[in-house]
Amino acid sequence: MNSYPMIIQGGMGAGVSSWRLARAVSQLGQLGVVSGTALDAILARRLQDGDPGGHMRRGLDNFPFPKMAERIWQAYYIPGGKPKLASYKTLPMHTVIGLRELRELSIVANFVEVFLAREGHGNPVGINYLEKIQLPLLPCVYGAMLAGVDYVLVGAGVPLKIPGVLDQFTSHESAMYPLDLADAQEGGKGTISFAPRDYMECDLPPLRRPKFLAIIASNTLATTLVKKANGCVDGFIVEGSTAGGHNAPPRGKLQLSPSGEPVYGERDIVDLTKLLALNLPFWLAGGYASPEKLREALAAGAAGIQVGTAFAFCAESSLCDDYKHALLNLAVSGQARVITDPIASPTNFPFKVALLEGTLSDPDVYSARPRICDLGFLREAYRTADGSIDFRCPAEPVSIYVSKGGKLEDTQGRKCLCNALVANIGLPQVRNGKHIEKGLVTSGDGLAEISRFLPANASAYCAADVLSHLLNG
Ligand SMILES: Cc1cc2nc3c(=O)[nH]c(=O)nc-3n(C[C@H](O)[C@H](O)[C@H](O)COP(=O)(O)O)c2cc1C
Repeated sequence: MNSYPMIIQGGMGAGVSSWRLARAVSQLGQLGVVSGTALDAILARRLQDGDPGGHMRRGLDNFPFPKMAERIWQAYYIPGGKPKLASYKTLPMHTVIGLRELRELSIVANFVEVFLAREGHGNPVGINYLEKIQLPLLPCVYGAMLAGVDYVLVGAGVPLKIPGVLDQFTSHESAMYPLDLADAQEGGKGTISFAPRDYMECDLPPLRRPKFLAIIASNTLATTLVKKANGCVDGFIVEGSTAGGHNAPPRGKLQLSPSGEPVYGERDIVDLTKLLALNLPFWLAGGYASPEKLREALAAGAAGIQVGTAFAFCAESSLCDDYKHALLNLAVSGQARVITDPIASPTNFPFKVALLEGTLSDPDVYSARPRICDLGFLREAYRTADGSIDFRCPAEPVSIYVSKGGKLEDTQGRKCLCNALVANIGLPQVRNGKHIEKGLVTSGDGLAEISRFLPANASAYCAADVLSHLLNG
């Protein structure tokens, strides 16, 4: 019997697929997935907003190490919330060694998000990470496992070493993770390590090993993972170039269309017959949010589909209401537009952008933003002349990036996704009491069709409407 979900609600960072959305989907019997991106910053900001609804406090109360939970509460909670135009505390950035304070925040934040998504039902819940964000990965995964996460889904990179991490953490043993270094010769990597026992306040029984699903866009990557991963790969999400968020770059030399978007071709299509030969379940993602496409996926041998865009604009998603309603209205009136921007993301991966006035997709809003890098999740690690490891981001101030050996041409058109994505969910940084960070909404090409999830005469829809449309037509 197939015990896998037929529909996976894709992880959507930062915080768009929050515990609320994932819980709604899992409660309805499909797989809800929280985003694991930047949860430390998100928890810290939710607490500085006064923890509306008391949900974070409830999560903290259930954390197995109460002293650590209390330290987080004391450090960030502001009764009644900070004044609207006050800045959020600037957190230190993640480093190779890992500041204890920040690692504790990562463990707790991942625990709380998964705990809340699992609350009140017995169905599985997943968490999604971007492999590119390597520095905080280990404490994040451990925190999610402490909360009993059932699936770990990892994309945007080659997650060869994730399975081993999951295995180590089941028995609270230390784990290591390779750190990619920019411009490094083959084999030139750093190493991040994390020992759960350095953080545990008491002994705990072994943890359940979550299933590991790798997000892939090529047969080669799927085969490499099966052959070379340091533990069990439990399945794949096959994500095509119409999906929201980051897309895998096209294979071969990058070619741009007249509108400046990457051109994908035959070589970018995953051969499902070859994938079937690997004998692992897989889900198809990117434009699959219709009953017809679900049937097509099942007929092709998939266990089901992963859907993002349809859920990003539903009532339970944490995308802020202004952006959600504005884009939903554009979709209803047939004016929604999504582009694949080859340079917006500091990661160098193409990034899908929904065009929306007042966000960084608007050239005037983009050029009015002073460059500042103070969250730093997407910084790349590189080796300095003296052999130590430092970090840089092509969206940081140009002179700083260039002084760290970055190329001037790489800074053009780069957007600070860290600040923009956190602004998307209503947690924007405020600078000097007046400049409020603006968002940049990502969406799949399917944005234009989301109006089909609206019940008759309604101006909003919820996760249940999406699932009922997909399953019942
Ligand atoms: C707002 C948004 C944010 C996303 N963020 C992530 C992410 O952080 N990690 C990830 O693996 N995929 C991310 N995705 C991709 C989704 O998980 C999913 O695979 C994809 O949206 C499926 O295609 P669809 O949008 O056509 O349904 C994101 C998608 C959207 C719409």
